[in-house]
Amino acid sequence: MLTTRNISTSWTEYTLIEELAGGDKELVTAAREAALKAYAPYSKFRVGAAVLMESGVIVCGANIENAAFPSGICAERSALANSASNYPGIKPVAIAIAAFTEDGLTKEPVTPCGNCRQVIAEEEFRNKNNIRIILSGESKIQIIEKGGDLLPLQFNRNSLKINPQ
Ligand code: THU
Repeated sequence: MLTTRNISTSWTEYTLIEELAGGDKELVTAAREAALKAYAPYSKFRVGAAVLMESGVIVCGANIENAAFPSGICAERSALANSASNYPGIKPVAIAIAAFTEDGLTKEPVTPCGNCRQVIAEEEFRNKNNIRIILSGESKIQIIEKGGDLLPLQFNRNSLKINPQ
């Protein structure tokens, strides 16, 4: 029998950073500041990510490029590698992302690439909690309630039939 199934994604959208709750505003500001520490001589596209841990600590990362292009790392994975290695056992609960071109903060929010979505999904899976994704551009801010919403039909530890941690 032929069955068609559907997956939809919803998110909330704000026009101004001032409209955000205090904690979210702080996280977006941290992501924007982190982007300015990027090493992006090749793309000139500087991305920052700020991870909020359940303890309240904020851990940042930026994209760090490499002359051997695939050796570079995105801001999101840089931040999550930093948070996971410095705070083992503490769950990441939100991640804010912001990017700058040579003209300044991007007009549209920048959304995580596929590799980064996979890494966000792994963090959600192993910690058994959602990570809120806060995307921010000059024109709008988008909040997605969990990383899994950005990676439907995901490949994860269940796919390998390994018991969840
Ligand atoms: N990049 C990120 O850091 N995060 C994203 O979500 C998208 C892309 C980086 C990778 C590369 O250094 C530059 O942006 C251009 O793709």
